Amino acid sequence: MTTAAFSEDFRLDLERLFTWRRDVRHFRREPVAPALLDDLLQASTLAPSVGLSEPWRFILVEDQTRKSAVRKSFETCNARALEGYDGEQAAGYASLKLAGLDDAPHHVAVFCETTPDQGHGLGRATMPETTTWSAVMAIHTFWLAATASGVGLGWVSILDPETVSTILNAEPNWDLVAYLCVGYPTEQADTPELERMGWEKRNPERRQWIRR
Ligand SMILES: Cc1cc2nc3c(=O)[nH]c(=O)nc-3n(C[C@H](O)[C@H](O)[C@H](O)COP(=O)(O)O)c2cc1C
Repeated sequence: MTTAAFSEDFRLDLERLFTWRRDVRHFRREPVAPALLDDLLQASTLAPSVGLSEPWRFILVEDQTRKSAVRKSFETCNARALEGYDGEQAAGYASLKLAGLDDAPHHVAVFCETTPDQGHGLGRATMPETTTWSAVMAIHTFWLAATASGVGLGWVSILDPETVSTILNAEPNWDLVAYLCVGYPTEQADTPELERMGWEKRNPERRQWIRR
């Protein structure tokens, strides 16, 4: 077995990767090469998973009718979310672009198989949510690998999971974890778009340990 050693230059690059990873809502239309999309999938599946259950299920959504149906679910859910805000916040919410579903050349739905045989149940008896968390680990790995290749990812959660599951003909024991827009971003930024739009800012307290 060989050991991995990482250089100081690599560590600095990795920190820049973390800093410049963004949730992307503005995409160029050109597609990502199929081989690169495959590479991103392979990278994401290097993520840890409870009991080595690998419960993630990545669907590449290629059918235009299905994509349009998901977009419709987003519009319905987004309009409903807007109704939950008043006054200035409502105006702020309405000004946000919360999905790049129209322009992103690729849509990827990530489901979690909630009761996988793989892993033989190890580690999830007391915390069954760990399968979902494992799928999230894979998504984050996808996100970082994509960023490293200049590819942007936008996570869309303003969707009705049951509707999306039906649209994509998901298995009954699959839960929707994420619907991802994937493609080349129109711009790069080292701060979140929600911060740049004045919706929310990062809180320095969240960078402090809570000690008990
Ligand atoms: C679980 C999850 C769900 C999210 N859902 C949405 C969404 O529906 N629409 C959206 O525009 N951004 C969504 N985001 C992106 C966040 O708004 C974004 O990560 C946050 O503002 C920080 O920005 P950054 O990712 O560029 O650092 C989601 C992120 C996560 C982790």
